[in-house]
Amino acid sequence: MPSDAVVGGSGLESYPGLVITGERRATTAFGEPSAPLVLGEIEGRKVVFLSRHGPEHDIAPHRINYRANLRALHDAGVERVYAAAAVGGIAPGLGPGTVVVPDQIIDYTVSRPGTFFEEGRVVHVDMTHPYTPSLRDRLLRAASVAGVAVHDGGVYGVTEGPRFETAAEIDRMERDGCAVVGMTAMPEAALARELGMEYAACAVVSNAAAGRGPAEITMEDIYANLERGMRRVRRIFAAALALGPG
Ligand code: HPA
Repeated sequence: MPSDAVVGGSGLESYPGLVITGERRATTAFGEPSAPLVLGEIEGRKVVFLSRHGPEHDIAPHRINYRANLRALHDAGVERVYAAAAVGGIAPGLGPGTVVVPDQIIDYTVSRPGTFFEEGRVVHVDMTHPYTPSLRDRLLRAASVAGVAVHDGGVYGVTEGPRFETAAEIDRMERDGCAVVGMTAMPEAALARELGMEYAACAVVSNAAAGRGPAEITMEDIYANLERGMRRVRRIFAAALALGPG
């Protein structure tokens, strides 16, 4: 089984260019993941692909069974998770289409089962660096090899959704230091850490965050920006897989 996985979010519900070699329906003690695990190859490198919102994009961010997703990947032998996500841009300069490789997270979610350690021995995992630094580095090197410009670093603020934020909420997040806002990095990153898997992400800015751009955030605008952003992210992931571990 491949030891690298890509978890695709909005704009990457399926993976163009993935040569599919198999599919595995997984079940875990926490239920079923968002979709069957798709086994395949990207430019000759073995990988597992999991669609976070389901292949039809019908699982909202607050309803995703993150524990089943991460546990299913772990059970399949995955050691490294490359996550793709759509985000709103908060920091100046992070306009639609920008690819960000975030280095920090602030969790504003309120209702998500966020740990595998609910009973028995108390376990506190270290989350000082929520994205695995060596895997982040690999994404940055891959972006450079692939000739894709990325923004290195930034705080990803995770909101509960599925609604977008109010302008005042974005103002507060900016004061907190958030560069982008999305709805899925937590508990995904924490659960990967609890299972000992490396985790790093490419976030595509699909829109200016609330109060930072057009009066209204529309899904049409978001998807138009995501398409070109995710094309770049796929080039980065292909280069990262080719670089291999280490
Ligand atoms: N807010 C939260 N999540 C998002 C956004 C946003 O503006 N854009 C894409 N995902």
